[in-house]
Amino acid sequence: MSAPETTSTEEKSDNNPYHKTAQYYERKLNLPVIRSIRRGESTRIYASFNALIRPDDTVLEIGCGTGYYTRDLIKRAKRVIALDDSESMLDIIRNRLSTEEVARMKFVRSEATAFSPEEPIDVVVHIGVLDYVPDWQAFLNHSLTHARRAVIFTCPSNGLCGHMFHLLSKWEGVDIQRYARRQLEDFLQEKYPEWRCEIHRVGINSGWTGGSTWVCTLKREG
Ligand SMILES: C[S@@+](CC[C@H](N)C(=O)[O-])C[C@H]1O[C@@H](n2cnc3c(N)ncnc32)[C@H](O)[C@@H]1O
Repeated sequence: MSAPETTSTEEKSDNNPYHKTAQYYERKLNLPVIRSIRRGESTRIYASFNALIRPDDTVLEIGCGTGYYTRDLIKRAKRVIALDDSESMLDIIRNRLSTEEVARMKFVRSEATAFSPEEPIDVVVHIGVLDYVPDWQAFLNHSLTHARRAVIFTCPSNGLCGHMFHLLSKWEGVDIQRYARRQLEDFLQEKYPEWRCEIHRVGINSGWTGGSTWVCTLKREG
């Protein structure tokens, strides 16, 4: 098997718990409540992938983690750049893909906004990453600058579930950001009027909880 193509920078985000806890991530994903949230989330995410990712595309996946969505993305697209600023996450994902898949991928260890792709990117995807990002506007500016056609991402909602996630994480020393739909829409309308934005609430999805997560799909018009 040829060695995977890897690029590394020294940039790391300080509020990222996965530098230390990569090996526990999948144990967390297997908790029944998280599995149920994830089911609703992935149904919506796969609908956006179906609509927007084409077989000739190059996809930049920021915060690929252990590869939950990467394994799907590499089946849909021609090339996937899998970026994460946790080396432990990248070690796990690299060993899970076939030789044929790895040959169409590049792995990058970097804080997302410190990365400048050397090739054109059609679609940028980041699932479960804005949770940890203090400067969300700079982060979205980076995604929207590099994507030619679409950006697909999730972020925690500012409803009851989002607040509970925030409080539980604070207890573990991690500051989780929460987002209002209006805050995302206003930013996008003002700075990126040529992008069409669809936002869906998923997760624990009744009106009174406010859902746990927003799934946001941005598509460049024209
Ligand atoms: C909750 S995990 C999500 C992993 C994967 N996308 C999934 O859905 O299973 C968040 C991932 O984002 C990475 N991450 C967080 N902040 C980042 C940043 N600023 N730049 C690059 N990666 C980041 C973490 O290391 C972690 O692997």
